[in-house]
Amino acid sequence: MKAIIPAAGLGTRFLPVTRAVPKEMLPIGAKPALELIVEEAREAGAEEIAIVISPGKELIREYFKDCPGIKFAYQSEQKGLGHAVLQAAEAAGDADSVLILLGDAVVTGGCAAREMAQVSAANGGASVIGFERVPREKVSRYGIAKPAPGTPPGAKIFRVADLVEKPRPEEAPSDLAVAGRYILDSAIFGFLANQKKGYGGEIQLTDAIRRMISAQGARACMGCVYEGKRQDIGNPEGYFKALEAFHGHS
Ligand code: UTP
Repeated sequence: MKAIIPAAGLGTRFLPVTRAVPKEMLPIGAKPALELIVEEAREAGAEEIAIVISPGKELIREYFKDCPGIKFAYQSEQKGLGHAVLQAAEAAGDADSVLILLGDAVVTGGCAAREMAQVSAANGGASVIGFERVPREKVSRYGIAKPAPGTPPGAKIFRVADLVEKPRPEEAPSDLAVAGRYILDSAIFGFLANQKKGYGGEIQLTDAIRRMISAQGARACMGCVYEGKRQDIGNPEGYFKALEAFHGHS
């Protein structure tokens, strides 16, 4: 399996430090967050990893330049997560599926990518989206799963019928929020290539996944509520929580 780590975003929620240091390179103990994410990808079986950076984030390339199996792709304009993933299509080559790990999401207390790779293998190589349960009042911040009919409440592994982007609490089909990790059929690149701009005027990965599910059917896409906890280090508050959580686990 090949992996893509998008790390080309602007990091405006973490200014001013992101003018000097990419948020993905902020330290968690003695390692940059991105190194922990690379380790997670490797633990899940990814031999080749493409990190998507922007020309202003050369520090990342400098840090990883001697690591075997790491390539770089460039996103010169920040047109959204979907667009960033598309820039790594060539690096992903002819793999059947690709593991995508957001560069500003670290997972404490488990290896989300490995767990998801096992779910994919047990389901004939299906796409797998990682989810976390969130309080109902917060669903409007996330992409939310619509599980296939008949999914028992509390199921940790389920089929995904659709995703709903940032729904109002009363309209949300579940409390399962997309949590920074995806294993996607490489057909996703075809959907991304002609994906129109969505929320925020950006090319959204979620929109392309929805089109892929609608073309392939819910059979082809599983959801997995993984064991670990996603820590969003894209803002100071989330970063401090991540540090606390890592301290607790070390
Ligand atoms: P975010 O949604 O946190 O966006 O990206 P951002 O632009 O980095 O941060 P803010 O909103 O300005 O504070 C989630 C992940 O996707 C990458 C980011 O680097 C981050 O790791 N990303 C996002 C890209 O690579 N390119 C993009 O155009 C957007």
